[in-house]
Amino acid sequence: MASLFANVVFVLLFIFLSFSSHGEAAPTYTSHYCDNITSFTPNSTYQANIRTLLSSLSSHSNSSTNGFYNTTAGRDPDLVYGTFLCRGDVSAHLCRKCVEIASNDIARRCVTEKLGVIWYDECTVRYSDQNIFSIIREVPGMDISSSESIQGDKDGFNQLLSSVMKSLMNRVAYDDQSGKRFATGEANFTRLQTLYSLVQCTPDLTDALCFRCLQSAIASIPMCCDGKQGGRVLLPSCNIRYDMSPFYRLNGTAAVVLPSPSPPNSTKQGKRMTSLPIIVAIVALVVASLVLLALGLLVLRKKARKKYNAVPEENVVEDVEGLESLLFDLSTIEAAVNNFSSDNKIGEGGFGEVYKGKLCSGQEIAVKKLSKNSNQGTKEFKNELALLTKLQHRNLVRLLGFCLDGEEKFLVYEFVPNKSLDCFIFDPERQGELDWSRRFKIIQGICRGLLYLHEDSRLRIVHRDLKASNILLDEDMNAKISDFGLARIFVVDQTQTNTRRIVGTYGYMAPEYAMQGQFSMKSDVFSFGVLILEIISGKKNSSFYDSESAEDLISHSWKLWREGTPLEMMDPNIGTNYSRNEVARCIHVGLLCVQEDPTKRPMMTTVVLMLESYSVSLPQPQSPASFLCRGNELSPQGGKGLGELSNNEVSITELEPR
Ligand SMILES: *[C@@H]1O[C@H](CO)[C@@H](O)[C@H](O)[C@H]1NC(C)=O
Ligand SMILES: *[C@@H]1O[C@H](CO)[C@@H](O)[C@H](O)[C@H]1NC(C)=O
Ligand SMILES: *[C@@H]1O[C@H](CO)[C@@H](O)[C@H](O)[C@H]1NC(C)=O
Ligand SMILES: *[C@@H]1O[C@H](CO)[C@@H](O)[C@H](O)[C@H]1NC(C)=O
Ligand SMILES: *[C@@H]1O[C@H](CO)[C@@H](O)[C@H](O)[C@H]1NC(C)=O
Ligand SMILES: *[C@@H]1O[C@H](CO)[C@@H](O)[C@H](O)[C@H]1NC(C)=O
Ligand SMILES: *[C@@H]1O[C@H](CO)[C@@H](O)[C@H](O)[C@H]1NC(C)=O
Repeated sequence: MASLFANVVFVLLFIFLSFSSHGEAAPTYTSHYCDNITSFTPNSTYQANIRTLLSSLSSHSNSSTNGFYNTTAGRDPDLVYGTFLCRGDVSAHLCRKCVEIASNDIARRCVTEKLGVIWYDECTVRYSDQNIFSIIREVPGMDISSSESIQGDKDGFNQLLSSVMKSLMNRVAYDDQSGKRFATGEANFTRLQTLYSLVQCTPDLTDALCFRCLQSAIASIPMCCDGKQGGRVLLPSCNIRYDMSPFYRLNGTAAVVLPSPSPPNSTKQGKRMTSLPIIVAIVALVVASLVLLALGLLVLRKKARKKYNAVPEENVVEDVEGLESLLFDLSTIEAAVNNFSSDNKIGEGGFGEVYKGKLCSGQEIAVKKLSKNSNQGTKEFKNELALLTKLQHRNLVRLLGFCLDGEEKFLVYEFVPNKSLDCFIFDPERQGELDWSRRFKIIQGICRGLLYLHEDSRLRIVHRDLKASNILLDEDMNAKISDFGLARIFVVDQTQTNTRRIVGTYGYMAPEYAMQGQFSMKSDVFSFGVLILEIISGKKNSSFYDSESAEDLISHSWKLWREGTPLEMMDPNIGTNYSRNEVARCIHVGLLCVQEDPTKRPMMTTVVLMLESYSVSLPQPQSPASFLCRGNELSPQGGKGLGELSNNEVSITELEPR
């Protein structure tokens, strides 16, 4: 009954919105972000410059032809950079109004912060103390989803959405004739439901940067908006949005004819030349059908949900279409990596050697030469890898494809330029390169990537070998998790979550995993907790040893926490520019993640909230798990204690559970 009521309310809202979005209504506030990390003092030059900048943006909202404008105010060190971007379809009049209102609004909302972004439905206004012109920024970002779930075939919807978004992305990035970097498109989901989509980049980006920004925004859809009727991903340099009702001006000439997407070739798309009355009629029809559907689904929903939940998480096997496009020729790979010359070798990971290479298209890649045989047949192996290529998120290293040539197997990844996290946080020469804001951003990035792996409804991947050397950093020092999903392929006896062989690295393994071989999302959460503590302290858990008190890093942090001096564990190279609250909160979350009892550890969804919202109050952590034997007392039962295996970086791959 409550659900029926909610549906009716939604329908009314839906009708209201469908009408109101056509008028020249007042600009609508969506979201904003004031960067808390750097701030200025009130009445400073910087603040005066922000005011000048904002009024300059407002006054230039007339002169922009493509709805975008960039300018600066003041001079170094108080220089402020600012831009506005209007949605591609809004009139010049509405654009001006929106920029004016948004500029006033952000000045009011971000009182002392050096960086601010405000998103309205019709425009985005932002400023920063760092150059933001012609540079891609993917943070700070916002995800918004409607609360209503999609009615009908969810997988079909996801496929349609993904292909529509991709075709719009290609259009905006590589075929932008208007100079606006803006495109919208409509596609029929069912006979009565139409999907409306929009993508936009700031026009100052190059084709490739626009593509990259949109790609990462689109990759966030499964995380923010999976199965929802509407969603938005708002990044400073680009934004995307979709809904089942029109939210932009439908305009025959502006409507995009979508090319037929290749995988789901049954979906139909086309140019819409409909006039407003017809749209209203269609909307009314959609509304009516939604009510009926909702009624029908009320009954079916519970059953369906039960069924869905019953699918065992490791058993997702499906035939993947479009497999051919993921297969690379051996010759292509050999040419790209210079015949695996030692000059091209950039590392050696748990599953084999890694080479840097360049495809003829100019794209840089990293090729992993697999040293292990999978225990799966070629077909399953291919399917598994094809599924991994579908995992796309800005905090995951993207698997582009693979090559199977007899016994030789290669994985082709996007190339991530800045090496791995361990090269920074544990290297006294480079620790200073990571100040607190960077470290915090890295923690948040790992957190989001891991959340995506855990919660992605189709695969639900437990990483099992999360560690600093598996976190790569891109040119903007964004964290990207690598080697995910490989444990699924290379571990035998996968029929149960209780595996006989263990892939994992000493120092990061949860006790229940190390000792009983039980892995779960909670064992990844444990490893994540260790990573947080390592990032903050600049010390390895596996080799940290305080000779005075004979403690490992976890116990050491725990002791400081209980003594009320958690910040003492901080890497002195972080310097003095950090928020004490933020660091303390991260340590707090880290300690919650490494609690001995897996059921007490938070899920990643909770961890994200804990790290990103100060309004979430955190429980007190309980005693953490401890690895290193304190003297002799903590040896696990039986002869071979973990202390004796403490060869720091060695991946433990064969350890019989007791
Ligand atoms: C960050 O913002 C929140 C909420 O606006 C505020 O409570 C907190 O004190 C701020 N932190 C810093 C370091 O300014
Ligand atoms: C800033 O200026 C306003 C008005 O000029 C004044 O009321 C306020 O006290 C000043 N604040 C500081 C911190 O100087
Ligand atoms: C913008 O243009 C309109 C008409 O073209 C004009 O009336 C208005 O004064 C202009 N506004 C600014 C701030 O220049
Ligand atoms: C806008 O950005 C470009 C670089 O993308 C820069 O060359 C130009 O000077 C900027 N315009 C203003 C008014 O600052
Ligand atoms: C439709 O869009 C085109 C290009 O964006 C524009 O020139 C035209 O005036 C618009 N038509 C209407 C009716 O808004
Ligand atoms: C759709 O795909 C099937 C095979 O997947 C193919 O036989 C058929 O010709 C395709 N239809 C169209 C219209 O491309
Ligand atoms: C989409 O659906 C509408 C309404 O049912 C219909 O008029 C239109 O022809 C459909 N478009 C395509 C390309 O099938």
